[in-house]
Amino acid sequence: MKILVTGGCGFIGSNFIRHILKCHPDYFLINVDKLTYAGNLENLSDLSDSPRYRFIRGDIADAPRIEELVSQGVETIVNFAAESHVDRSIEDPGAFMKTNVFGTFVLLEAMRKVFQKRQIRFLHISTDEVYGSLGESGAFTETTPLAPNSPYSASKTAADMLVRAYHHTYGLPALVTRCSNNYGPYQFPEKLIPLMISNALEDKELPIYGDGMNVRDWIYVEDHCRALDVVLHRGKEGEVYNVGGRSEKPNITVAKTILDRLGKPHSLIRYVADRPGHDRRYAIDFSKIERELGWKPSVSFEEGIRLTIEWYQAHREWWKKIKTGDYLDYYNRMYKDR
Ligand code: NAD
Ligand code: TYD
Repeated sequence: MKILVTGGCGFIGSNFIRHILKCHPDYFLINVDKLTYAGNLENLSDLSDSPRYRFIRGDIADAPRIEELVSQGVETIVNFAAESHVDRSIEDPGAFMKTNVFGTFVLLEAMRKVFQKRQIRFLHISTDEVYGSLGESGAFTETTPLAPNSPYSASKTAADMLVRAYHHTYGLPALVTRCSNNYGPYQFPEKLIPLMISNALEDKELPIYGDGMNVRDWIYVEDHCRALDVVLHRGKEGEVYNVGGRSEKPNITVAKTILDRLGKPHSLIRYVADRPGHDRRYAIDFSKIERELGWKPSVSFEEGIRLTIEWYQAHREWWKKIKTGDYLDYYNRMYKDR
């Protein structure tokens, strides 16, 4: 199979590419990535000699370029490309609309031009954040009404709705997955877990928003990649599949777990001003993918956090190189006055 992956130089995309090449020895992958601040060629440097992998620098919002790529016998498009960080979406939402909404539209249009002439499928990678925020109990199902609260989640919701409309109106063969918070190797250190690990390793403060009691469901990235593999091959077109980790934790528990594992003091934790519009709790009901496609998460939080900490300990050069220049400007803007 020939797969066009978008955003493959980011966190989940790079893990997915490695997963597919390992598990499907006859597949060929094209990775189109704009290389924004979050895209890093080093995430896939071990594949540069692979005859089954090709990297192309490009923007999913560039229609002629995308049409040309899709016309090259691609059988599946897996769309990871996105601006992905909620805090950045609060600071500057424009890029989120351009990539997450308009970029998805461009991909769907390129699909619309070819899908009746040949076999092609579209797998859109969405997020549980489209459902909004939960109270003390309950979990998101695929039929929970969409109620996004941040510019990031609003842009992802708009993209989901475009995918839905293209399937409904044109019969375009598309599937959507909505996953909870991922963690693991190659995650950009602006997100909670890699930020906490790398700061702790440098004996820097761990900034916790608000009271630290916001809850996220954590999934190890390899489990997410396995779920995408299953949906790609056996999912039903027009369907949405929730993907979760069965690991709901308050942020403060995550931070303390990381400090304990590294033998660092809890005094490194600094409570800072809350994120505006901060969603209180996410929890995901993934019984549909479990029942229909036989997938469930296999890595516990305890095991996943151990693997992740070990990876960040062993790859200091990777994150130290990132935590300079533009990143420091961002970090100071974000945390200095909080
Ligand atoms: P990331 O920020 O690490 O990577 C995004 C990648 O997309 C980068 O390589 C970037 O260069 C690329 N990109 C951005 N704009 C582009 C454009 N216009 N054209 C081409 N490439 C572009 O993000 P991630 O954490 O790997 O997330 C990947 C996808 O999964 C996103 O769609 C995100 O919404 C979704 N998702 C993420 C999580 C999570 O916890 N990280 C959870 C659920 C869903
Ligand atoms: P994040 O990794 O940004 O993912 P998302 O907002 O998409 O869920 O944040 C996860 C949780 O951690 C969220 O509740 C916000 C919180 N958080 C902090 O408390 N401090 C931080 O420095 C960051 C980046 C996040």
